[in-house]
Amino acid sequence: MVLLYNDILFPRKVNNIIHNFFIKLHNCLKLIRPLLVPPARLDTIIYINMTSLKTHNLNKHFEGVKAVQNLSVQFEPGKVTGVIGPNGSGKSTLINALTGVTPITSGNIVIAGKEKISQMNASETIDFGITRTFQEVRLFEQMTVLDNILVVTTARGPLRALFEKHSKYHLAIAEQVLKQVGMWQFKDKDAVQLSYGQRKLLEIARILAMKEIGKADIIFFDEPFAGLFPEMRKVVVSVIQKLKSEGATMVLVEHNMDLIRELSDTVIVMDSGELLAEGKADHVLAQRDVIEAYLGE
Ligand SMILES: Nc1ncnc2c1ncn2[C@@H]1O[C@H](COP(=O)(O)OP(=O)(O)OP(=O)(O)O)[C@@H](O)[C@H]1O
Ligand SMILES: [Mg+2]
Repeated sequence: MVLLYNDILFPRKVNNIIHNFFIKLHNCLKLIRPLLVPPARLDTIIYINMTSLKTHNLNKHFEGVKAVQNLSVQFEPGKVTGVIGPNGSGKSTLINALTGVTPITSGNIVIAGKEKISQMNASETIDFGITRTFQEVRLFEQMTVLDNILVVTTARGPLRALFEKHSKYHLAIAEQVLKQVGMWQFKDKDAVQLSYGQRKLLEIARILAMKEIGKADIIFFDEPFAGLFPEMRKVVVSVIQKLKSEGATMVLVEHNMDLIRELSDTVIVMDSGELLAEGKADHVLAQRDVIEAYLGE
């Protein structure tokens, strides 16, 4: 059974209800699978995610600073778009504008080819399954590693999540994603006690948990590898590859060109808020104006 309902023109709320129903059904079947039938039969249920994101003449100005200028770009499902550019070229501002952290000055965003919006807000990002990591990691500092995951799977805010008796379903997801990034042994530590690298891995685990509950279709990574040891980098690489194989639309801001080459299907280059170049990584990185923008020649 293949579910392709995202391509059908339902109103967004209806589409979200159907979307969430099938995600819950799929996850329940995964949990009760051993009681039902041999694994191979239920593995034939595949969920295909079809959410693209497009910007049209997007502008974000901070008084005199044109952080993003007339940017028209497209991010596709099942693909990683690398976003590169010198410091201050507008990469984080672009993510902030597309995730509702900062208001857009002008221009449009088109989701899944049909939802045209001029301003992204927090509830809209949840509805559209848009999520992100931050350049400066953001966690619930006084909560444990485990609770930092349960907060997003229950999605009812930090206070209720703390006092809630979590279902086996949510705990199983938390255990799975924390093991995936090698953080399960730290589950009872408060986030504030973690090392820099562990904090970044916890943020990545949070993305994985959101993907499990069907709330991470479009994912923005703002320098997820910065400051990580090689072993931790490998974990993040494998997570991005896994999410890609599951059809997520991913945007990767990164300064390490080897990682950009390894992970990106296409690359966009920003310079002073504008689109300087786009295309395959090797082709783009060989262009003279791109090299000059990076070296500041
Ligand atoms: N909240 C803000 N208020 C005023 N100016 C801002 C704000 N946020 C960003 N800027 C400015 O917008 C421009 C783009 O900044 P941004 O952080 O998006 O760059 P970046 O490409 O992410 O850089 P880096 O590679 O260093 O992370 C810079 O000139 C920056 O000073
Ligand atoms: Mg930045």
